[in-house]
Amino acid sequence: MSMSRRTALKIGGAGFLGAAVLGAPLTSVEAKSASRLDARNMPAPFRTPLTIPPVLSPEKTERDADGRLVSSYRIKQLQGKANIVPGLSTTIFGYNGIFPGPTVSVEQGTRINLRMDNYLPVFNPLDGQVFNTSTHLHGSASLPQFDGYANDIIPKDMCKDYEYPNFQPARTIWYHDHAVHRTAHNVYSGLAAQYHMHDPVERALLPQGKFDVPLTVSDAMFAKDGSLSFDDNSQSGLWGDVILVNGAPWPVMKVQRRVYRFRILNASISRSYRFALSTGDAFTVVATDGGLIPVAQQVPNWRHSSGERYEVLIDFSKYAAGKRVELRNLSNKNNVDYDFTNKVMAFDVTDEPVNTADHTWKTLPKVLTSSTAMSLKASQAGKTRKMRFDRSGGRWTINGSSWEDVVDSGFQKVLANPRLNDTEIWELENKSGGWFHPVHIHLVDFQILSRNGRPPFAYERGPKDVVYLGENETVRVLMKFEHHRGRYMIHCHNLPHEDHDMMNQFSVGYTAGTPDPNDPIATAPAHYENP
Ligand code: C2O
Ligand code: CU
Repeated sequence: MSMSRRTALKIGGAGFLGAAVLGAPLTSVEAKSASRLDARNMPAPFRTPLTIPPVLSPEKTERDADGRLVSSYRIKQLQGKANIVPGLSTTIFGYNGIFPGPTVSVEQGTRINLRMDNYLPVFNPLDGQVFNTSTHLHGSASLPQFDGYANDIIPKDMCKDYEYPNFQPARTIWYHDHAVHRTAHNVYSGLAAQYHMHDPVERALLPQGKFDVPLTVSDAMFAKDGSLSFDDNSQSGLWGDVILVNGAPWPVMKVQRRVYRFRILNASISRSYRFALSTGDAFTVVATDGGLIPVAQQVPNWRHSSGERYEVLIDFSKYAAGKRVELRNLSNKNNVDYDFTNKVMAFDVTDEPVNTADHTWKTLPKVLTSSTAMSLKASQAGKTRKMRFDRSGGRWTINGSSWEDVVDSGFQKVLANPRLNDTEIWELENKSGGWFHPVHIHLVDFQILSRNGRPPFAYERGPKDVVYLGENETVRVLMKFEHHRGRYMIHCHNLPHEDHDMMNQFSVGYTAGTPDPNDPIATAPAHYENP
């Protein structure tokens, strides 16, 4: 099926408004393009080489008074220029002025102090709104005052000093903007990057160095002059027609005939993917959001929403040199698809000699390692809470309430208040067939117990912090509220939903009205640079 952009958007709009009215779930629709570029400027698949974002160097690494290693980093949020569209340049706003931003790579046990400077223009040109920021390290159990709380903003020309503990097991996490009502625009403008936590277990089992490849996948649409354009279809979702991997349109990567590890992050504003290989061969899933999966899973494709990370191995040793293997997107319900959104990138197999002394060159591990989240038993849960993800009163809500209600309560209102070290089951429910919600719970790693009463998909059987809450799905997750007391956010990771206003909070070990030593806004506010 192919149709004009206008028709597609009308149908997309019907999916948003009409599903409740019509009661009919909408499957994905296709159209030519969302971009307004002239044909000669429209990027085409498999023309651009894949690039790997630079790894950020610390300004210094020292031992603190307790003998622990602490690395100090600094990142400036800056305007930059990107070459995405042939013949035109695109203004982006990124960490150190690039998209994706620099990768942070850290060993478990080394703490990080990060100074984040907001040197962005006063207004975001996408819509002329004030360019405040707040940085969230998604997948880290950080203290509330360093967790990118939506209203803990860094105004222009100010900075904030974040502290990251890095005591958790190895994992692929990411830092991205989280400013109140501005998350979609800010992330779309370029404020997103990967952060890799390493540990000895993962080092021994999985490919390292240039065989350990970050792939940040996003979608975008462009105006005629090559600038980014933004259209969230009345706050339902943004569906770009150009698929970017590490900021390049449908890139190509040369690979040796060996096993590679890919850290796939979906940093799209709204789009979900179903990744598959053109050969039909399976991927070996070795890690989920919170790190290694206890038992590796072979899957021919998987459903991957915004915010989720999957680490997969692909064994290129079975292909002849000269073979091209495409990474494709089979798409999911309630996405808007265009001519080339079914393609993601390509791998060109080369005859470059393989170092067979590195055992990971041909190892597809079967058993990896368990973790706190994956060792929990449902019988340990003291409470089961229900969270309903809904559309009500013209807003996206959780249990009928939104971030506005949290703001109006002076940031006191919470959806749940587990005690420190409590284990609970949360039952997440999406009664609609018209949309899906990627649900992200801050602070915790959770285990998915069931989806609509059935076991989770094979690839989801590892520690998670975002779960794909699909159409008419009820998902039960199990987690322990450990490490820190304080208030943390829970929200939909379809960013226009999050911004309007499907976000709320829970508190751990804290009662409303009592003083909170980890107040997410007051404890460590943004400040001007020290002279
Ligand atoms: Cu990736 Cu609260 O977000
Ligand atoms: Cu949502």
